[in-house]
Amino acid sequence: MPMLRIEGLDHRWTGARQDTIRVGALALGAGENLFLHGPSGCGKSTLISAIAGVIDVAEGAVCVAGRDIGSLGSGARDRFRADHIGLVFQMFNLVPWLTGIENVILPCTFSRRRRRRAGNPEAVARRLLGDLGLDPDELGRKTAGDLSVGQQQRVAVARALIGTPDLILADEPTSALDADAKTAFLDVLMRDCKAANTALLFVSHDRGLEGHFDRSVDFRDLDRGGTR
Ligand SMILES: Nc1ncnc2c1ncn2[C@@H]1O[C@H](COP(=O)(O)OP(=O)(O)OP(=O)(O)O)[C@@H](O)[C@H]1O
Ligand SMILES: [Mg+2]
Repeated sequence: MPMLRIEGLDHRWTGARQDTIRVGALALGAGENLFLHGPSGCGKSTLISAIAGVIDVAEGAVCVAGRDIGSLGSGARDRFRADHIGLVFQMFNLVPWLTGIENVILPCTFSRRRRRRAGNPEAVARRLLGDLGLDPDELGRKTAGDLSVGQQQRVAVARALIGTPDLILADEPTSALDADAKTAFLDVLMRDCKAANTALLFVSHDRGLEGHFDRSVDFRDLDRGGTR
């Protein structure tokens, strides 16, 4: 069973002249990763929102771990997302008054499944932050609002990884990192996803990252099933 399956997905923002996203078919199996690239404004974040069920789409189906997201009511959708999807937002969406570690642990407070799979959330949070090149003690003291942008970005990624969701949707998660941090960060993300059999959809305009991934697709080819 694919962890992500999209069929005939179209979305047009109100007032737009043309569809922002048109996806023919796209599937991602457990443990697979896909790099999806396209220029700024082409609709990458819109697609992430549609897959996560944050926005409603008029046409098509999105199935995550075998469940059709569109068939769920809003409460069930929120619970399903917390259980099965790790989301790295382009703007991070950390809770500014919580510490870095508290932010990482957040999915385990919303989802019993993620908590069970994490085992000891605090210990896992500290391990993930350390692996991502951050100081867990500092992240236990400082609130997210007092962190640098690069630190916030890695906290957001640790929050997506905790409790091994079935699917991670990462929206431009390396934009604030320097070249060395980018490579180290991608190594950790890939390794943890493979180890947990998590499917990873990574969107970015930075084609320099392409070589790290199993598969790469141009956003503008998605309407033809990802092939030119
Ligand atoms: N909430 C919204 N309401 C209306 N239009 C929107 C909304 N969000 C995005 N758009 C429009 O959809 C198009 C795609 O935006 P989107 O944010 O998905 O692009 P992107 O590929 O993620 O860009 P970037 O690389 O800069 O993050 C843009 O034309 C944008 O103006
Ligand atoms: Mg975007």
